[in-house]
Amino acid sequence: MTSFTKIPDGETPSIEVTLSRVVSDINPLMYGGFLEHMGRCIYGGIYDPDNKHGAIDENGFRIDVIEAFKELQIPVIRYPGGNFVATYHWEDGVGPREQRPRRWDPAWKAEESNHFGTNEFMNFCDLVGTKPYLALNMGTGTLDEALNWVEYCNSTRNTHYANLRRAHGREEPYNVKYWALGNETWGPWQVEEDTKENYAKRALQWAKALKLADPNIELILCGKNGYDDWDRYVLQECVDLVDMHSIHLYTYSHDFKENVTAPRAAERAIQITASLAELALINNPTGGWRPNGYKPPSAPPKICFDEWNVYDDQQAPGDEGGEQAYNLSDALGVAVWLNVFIRQSKHIGMANLAQSVNVLGPISTRRDGGPGLVRQTLWWPLLLFSKYMRGKTLGVHLRSSTYEGSTSPDFIRKTTPTPWLDVSCAYDEEAGFVNLAVVNVNDEADIAADLDLSDALPAKEVQVFTVGGGDVDVKATNFDGVERVGVVETTWTASAQYTFPKHSFTLLRWSVKA
Ligand code: AHR
Repeated sequence: MTSFTKIPDGETPSIEVTLSRVVSDINPLMYGGFLEHMGRCIYGGIYDPDNKHGAIDENGFRIDVIEAFKELQIPVIRYPGGNFVATYHWEDGVGPREQRPRRWDPAWKAEESNHFGTNEFMNFCDLVGTKPYLALNMGTGTLDEALNWVEYCNSTRNTHYANLRRAHGREEPYNVKYWALGNETWGPWQVEEDTKENYAKRALQWAKALKLADPNIELILCGKNGYDDWDRYVLQECVDLVDMHSIHLYTYSHDFKENVTAPRAAERAIQITASLAELALINNPTGGWRPNGYKPPSAPPKICFDEWNVYDDQQAPGDEGGEQAYNLSDALGVAVWLNVFIRQSKHIGMANLAQSVNVLGPISTRRDGGPGLVRQTLWWPLLLFSKYMRGKTLGVHLRSSTYEGSTSPDFIRKTTPTPWLDVSCAYDEEAGFVNLAVVNVNDEADIAADLDLSDALPAKEVQVFTVGGGDVDVKATNFDGVERVGVVETTWTASAQYTFPKHSFTLLRWSVKA
């Protein structure tokens, strides 16, 4: 955890890095993605079999998107929703394509061809080298269907659904490890919105049955935002049989300072959820009935932050495809989000940017289907974090004055300090590199900070990656294909002070002296 001392305005801030202050491992699943049947995420995003521009491979997948996923090193992908999953019947999406039923999707008010389904998703995961994470339909779906899906994906037995998979051309099981017990089942917009009492009762029974079917799976409970009574209640009831607790949060404000400090809400959400998970375990020390061989939990469930992003739902309404033109302000918001995950890595079992292509995506495909992607502003902090912020979180000590204006949501102002420099630090022990990620959330002033690197002194020059800053307009986007926001790479001979440009994200990366 980064420790923090508030100093008066005008005093020089400082960042202290010490190698001995290791907080926890950084779970690589933190850099997960999400593909939903929504807008142009699947069709026209990753999958476009009728593409006439030579942009696809022999399976109908977009080649440039596959490459982009590989570059981001997305380790796990959540699928097929989202709100979409509340009426999704997985059997519609397997078998000969021409026989798959077209359905109406009430979540996004769209026709669904079902031409992309389980096997196409698994193939895509294989191609990009990522793990699948499937969400179960706890809206109109039944436990039977869920059990059948697990059997279809994972079973080696001589039973109907395992044999159906074989008949569809796949002998080996997919061994899908991660399964979500529904999505946002608390939401008034859901088909079959539920109460926390009823959901918890069902989730526990589903969990028992699913683990009986396959004891190797990990189940993700459907939480809310992490600080709602729903989270407390469902954790309390289901802690015995679930492996992670899911929370969702989208942040956004038109105002720059509100937008970039907004992800601090996620930090509180994570801390509160972690305490609720702990409380559930404390109150339930012996546990209830468990399937044979299934051990009682020895630690509280980790958090699966399986939907997060900066999202302006006025600019990019979900039922119009949710394609947001991200600007520099949003990219810096994403950098603060990622700083939050690094700082709180101890509690994070998985996180999934919502979503990966076109819909709120860091990459956008052309509407005419032509090759060539737009790398939205979000791409750059995501890429830098995914490439470098790995290994272990180091707790840095930050001294800084704070932003005292309005925040969105308002509770940030009341519960959490918002220093002008938002900082996280990762130590990749294997490679011998320290990576210091700093967002200057002030759009009016560069900030010079003292760097106290004690036992983490650079062996050589420091690599510097900067997104934004100086002349780049906080409203600048890349959406029309012109790359106004990118990353500038330089080097810096370490000295006692570094100046972080106004409205910028800076990653300082150095190998430490042996
Ligand atoms: O990511 C867009 C939508 O936001 C998801 O479908 C839903 O789960 C959330 O409300």
